[in-house]
Order: sequence, then structure tokens, then C-alpha cells
Amino acid sequence: MSLQNKKILLIIGGGVSAYKALDLIRLLVKNNVEVKTILTKGGKEFVTSLSITSLSNNKVFEDIFDVNNEKEIDHISLSRWADIVLTLPTTANMMARLSSGKADDLATTVILASNKDILLVPAMNVRMWLHKATQNNLKTLLNFGYKFIGPVNGEMACGEYGEGKMSSPRQIFSYLHDFFNNKDLVKKKNISALVTTGPTREYIDPVRYISNESSGKQGYEIALALSKLGVKTTLIAGPTSINFSKDLNVKKITSAAEMMIAVQKLLPVDIAVCAAAVADFKPKNRSTQKIKKDKKNYNVLNLEKNEDVLEYLGKNNKLRPKILVGFSAETENLIENSTNKLNNKYCDMIIANDVSKKKTGFNVDYNKILIIEKNGKIENLPKNKKSFIATKIAKKIIDKILINDKNPN
Ligand code: CTP
Repeated sequence: MSLQNKKILLIIGGGVSAYKALDLIRLLVKNNVEVKTILTKGGKEFVTSLSITSLSNNKVFEDIFDVNNEKEIDHISLSRWADIVLTLPTTANMMARLSSGKADDLATTVILASNKDILLVPAMNVRMWLHKATQNNLKTLLNFGYKFIGPVNGEMACGEYGEGKMSSPRQIFSYLHDFFNNKDLVKKKNISALVTTGPTREYIDPVRYISNESSGKQGYEIALALSKLGVKTTLIAGPTSINFSKDLNVKKITSAAEMMIAVQKLLPVDIAVCAAAVADFKPKNRSTQKIKKDKKNYNVLNLEKNEDVLEYLGKNNKLRPKILVGFSAETENLIENSTNKLNNKYCDMIIANDVSKKKTGFNVDYNKILIIEKNGKIENLPKNKKSFIATKIAKKIIDKILINDKNPN
């Protein structure tokens, strides 16, 4: 099983549910997971390092300012050692500190310095969880890419009932199991993806072109999210101002025709996400000289249709990606028009966004989308940062591809 031989850095926070950490350590160690722990000052009020050491068979790390351990408690190597950093219970205070980027003890310093996935397991009173401040912090932390397990509904230590109760050690264990399982599977299966993004430019003459407002951000974030999930990803990007991450394989193109060639060169791939706002038309003949404003040139634009990349992929009998995702930018009849595109271009899913609203969609950091599937299922993702929306889309794609592989038709 894929949890075997994984290394988990467990940060135990100051909350009454801290005792559940002991049960989780027992479960993990029994399944051959190596667990190292950081016990925060608050955590020490609820569990002892002696009980943690006896269960984890590892030394417990405590304070960053411990002079005697300065060499040993190297926050960088501790965060590099782990496959994952898990924090439980994550209190409202811990969420606030993490969302403001604090690094004033060993736990927060390790998290800030980490290059691994950070999993937070909140536990707090229902009012504290639902408070605007905590919910704002939640949004910030999700935007950092941190993942959350729970909280769940239930009766709390304070006697109140509601959302805020910490997930049980079994639930956390099963989340970790699925998390590693999927990551291992993606790597083992060598899953590949191409993502198109940005606008295209169709030149009329050497200095003028037809294009659109697309910033390419949503497609870029999806490519990043897929690649973080272990997918071998190439981003085919039209002209944008994005400062691409060096970790991502990017192929820059200008026109729709170049995009098509770049896509064809990458086939076959397991996943294709067409997020680009490809210009629908291009001038039939590109003038080699700058077109003058003579009256005779008023009707100089003679347009023809660009080839449709998404449709080409959908109709490609031999090289159709296993999962094909399209985008649909609409200003009216969002569901109906997008469903038509999904069917006409033979997609598995279409990401529909209403571009009539200025604050979401084109050329902004936020988006608000519907994911429409071939079987008619619709998931609504309310307004959020494009990076967050991207992680949701990427996760959905991976879940789908892994399920399809388990149950081939
Ligand atoms: N698309 C593409 N190649 C094209 C045109 C569109 O790959 N030449 C893809 C887009 O990347 C997107 C989907 O098709 O995934 C839908 O694009 P959209 O612009 O919303 O719709 P169109 O099909 O161009 O139709 P219309 O502009 O009439 O709404």
C-alpha cells in the first residue's frame, strides 16, 4: 500500500483534540509510516512528548529557540525530510498565524520553509470556525495551496454542536492513504497532459493583429496544479504577461495555426485541457507591408475561420486524449450554450464561465465557474482565486482518469 515507507512530519497544535494525534501516530506507525513530530507550546499543554516518542519511536522536536538543539532542529532539513507536513489540531489562532506568514516558532517556520504539501486539520468551536476572520484565513490558506481535512459536523468538547469538530484519526488516515495512492498512481502510470492557454494573435500586417483580452492565468494555474499532482504537463501558451514557473514545461506560440502544430506534436497525451481563447478568425492574406489608411483599404479585411484545436482533439479517433476538457466563455445562456459546445466538440467536461461579469473571468485573478460533465452533472464553483479553482479542476480530472483506468469500458 502506498502509505508504506512514507515520511510524515506531524505538527501537534494546542487544542483539546491533540490527544487524537496519539491514535493517529499509532495507526501510521503500524502501517510502516515514519512519523516525526513537532510539539508546539500549546500542544504541550495537552499531550506529553514522552507519550509521542513512545508511539512514534522518534524524538519530538519542540522549540526553534532551543539553543542546545539548534544544530539538530534545522527547520529546512526537517521540512525537506518529510513527504508531507500534517498539522493537527489546527486552531483558529494557528490559521491566523499561517495566513499572515508568521514564522515565530518551529512549527510555523517549518511550514513557511516547506516545499511539500501542507495538510491542515482544523478543530475549533463552530462559531470560531464560521467567523468571517477564520473563513477569510481559510480562503488565504487555500490560495497558498494548503489542503484541509475537515472539519466535520458533530458535538464538540465545549458541548456545542456544529461544524468545527476535528476529523477522526481513521478519517485522516484514509485521506492520507488516498492522497499518496493517487500521487503514486499518477507517477507510476506516467500520466501526461497538455494545456492550451492565453489568446492567439492573428496578424493583419506586420504591426496589427486580431486578438482578445485573455490573460492566460486560468490555463496556467491548471497546468501548475496538474504538474503538482505528478502529471507530466506541457503548457502551450499564446502571448501573455505571465512570469512562468521554471518547473513547468512551456511552449510559447503566437497564432492559432502555431497552437495547432504545437498540440499535434505533443500527441498522444492522456489529458488535454483547452483553456485558450483562440481567435476564431484570421485574415486570409497577411499583408507584408503596413496597410495604409487609403479609402481603398476600408474593406481590406478578408477573414477565414481558424481550425478548432479542441474539436480536432475530440474528433481524433486515433489520438483522442483519455480526458478532454474544454472551456466555454459565454455572456448569455451559459449552461445551454456550454452544453452544446461540450457535445459539438466531443469533450468529457467543459468549464463554463460567464464573461459578462467584469470581476471574474477574463483578465482578472478571480473566476466563478460551472463544471459540466458529459453525463449532464453540473458542479458549481463559486467565486475564488484562479489558483484555487485550478486545483479543484485538476483534482477532478485526475480522479476521473484514475477511475476510468480502473473501470475501462
Ligand atoms: N477552441 C479551440 N480552437 C479554436 C476555438 C476554440 O481550441 N479555434 C476551444 C477553446 O480553447 C475552448 C472552446 O474551444 O476550450 C470554446 O471556445 P469559445 O471561444 O468559448 O467558443 P467557440 O467555439 O469559439 O464559439 P463562440 O465563439 O461562437 O462562442
